[in-house]
Amino acid sequence: MKLTPVLSANWDQKDLFTIDGYRRNGGYSAMKKALAMEPAAIISLIKESGLRGRGGAGFPTGLKWSFIPQGDGKPHYLVVNADESEPGTCKDMPLLLANPHVLIEGVIIASYAINSNQAFIYVRGEVVHVVRRLQQAVADAYAAGLLGKNIDGKGYDLDLVIHAGAGAYICGEETALLDSLEGFRGQPRLRPPFPAIAGLYACPTVINNVESIASVPAIINGGVAWFASMGTEKSKGFTLYSLSGHVKQPGQYEAPLGITLRELLELSGGVREGHTLKFWTPGGSSTPLFTAEHLDVPLDYEGVASAGSMLGTKALQIFDETTCIVRAVLRWSEFYQHESCGKCTPCREGTYWLVQILKDLEAGKGTEEDLDKLLDLCDNILGRAFCALGDGATSPITSSIKYFRSEYIAHLTAGQCPFDPVASTLFAGVNA
Ligand SMILES: Cc1cc2nc3c(=O)[nH]c(=O)nc-3n(C[C@H](O)[C@H](O)[C@H](O)COP(=O)(O)O)c2cc1C
Ligand code: SF4
Repeated sequence: MKLTPVLSANWDQKDLFTIDGYRRNGGYSAMKKALAMEPAAIISLIKESGLRGRGGAGFPTGLKWSFIPQGDGKPHYLVVNADESEPGTCKDMPLLLANPHVLIEGVIIASYAINSNQAFIYVRGEVVHVVRRLQQAVADAYAAGLLGKNIDGKGYDLDLVIHAGAGAYICGEETALLDSLEGFRGQPRLRPPFPAIAGLYACPTVINNVESIASVPAIINGGVAWFASMGTEKSKGFTLYSLSGHVKQPGQYEAPLGITLRELLELSGGVREGHTLKFWTPGGSSTPLFTAEHLDVPLDYEGVASAGSMLGTKALQIFDETTCIVRAVLRWSEFYQHESCGKCTPCREGTYWLVQILKDLEAGKGTEEDLDKLLDLCDNILGRAFCALGDGATSPITSSIKYFRSEYIAHLTAGQCPFDPVASTLFAGVNA
């Protein structure tokens, strides 16, 4: 299967991030086309295209837009989720750095479609260079008459605000993001009401991921048939797969949905020289781990789900045989404990205890019963936590015990971690 660079098509052009560079490559032509259409026709087109949200859950984008009530007399808002904090996920920031205007063009089209005159981009505050690039791009778009009053002389008004978050993983959860944007502590809201009915300032709101909105201009220009010619039956189009870790050429690989890790490894030079694949995440650390037996799983929403995981953010973190699974899972669990917002007991207390048990196991302390205790704790978090952060915290643990129980036990048998932390080599025959 070949790469299909659309979003990443001109990333090698040094000035693509400028308004002139973007326009030279056809930028803002989709906006012109869209502003000449009826808003409802744009929503139908995005629905027909089969575009699904690229922020993790894969919800159909056009359908989400169609939930916004029309003629309700209330302000409508579009909020772009650029928080990108899931471990391993690194697609939205490179996209924004290389081509901020494609997002702005998508924002104009999406806002027009849902009858909104005010949009926000909530961007992770730590990535200051991306925040600055976005701010400059927005200022340039205003100066060019592409934002503000009477956009491109078409009688449509739109203001766009860049809001820098303060660096909390939970603020990527859409309702916590809204609370944070309103100036409150970022914690998830009870649903219903859903944001489409009562979102930002209790008004109808669409929240979409950066990549979802940035894909819209290409769909307007290319059309439904072109978009649907890529991907699989229920997962259409192109998408950014992020390869990181023990791989020869890490980076963004834009390919049709349904490509396999085996094919992506061929394109990226494979696992680093002299080493073999041990485990990998299909969509960031919140998605259950896969192993070398899953190299041929089609990386679309259905394929990954039927193999027992989730496509998530398509963050493919690759780990070779030198990685201690218990140590890797402990690191991820510490992240979830740190980022738990504390609103609900299963996650707030549960993530703390998961870390305590994993710390002991990694040091070779404890008994095999502790593995059952870990699984029992996970069972009490999964499906009982207030939001998906709690569920995600259990994924690396349950899946690693499923595939690597013997390696947990090897720690207990050795009375210490059987991996040499300095040389990163094995000394106790683990995985031999
Ligand atoms: C803990 C947590 C963190 C999340 N972080 C992000 C994020 O950084 N970016 C994102 O787009 N979606 C994130 N999501 C998913 C959002 O809640 C939401 O589903 C998404 O922004 C919707 O956009 P889409 O329909 O375009 O995928 C997160 C969800 C959870 C539970
Ligand atoms: S699951 Fe965790 S992050 Fe989500 S509301 Fe509960 S405590 Fe907060």
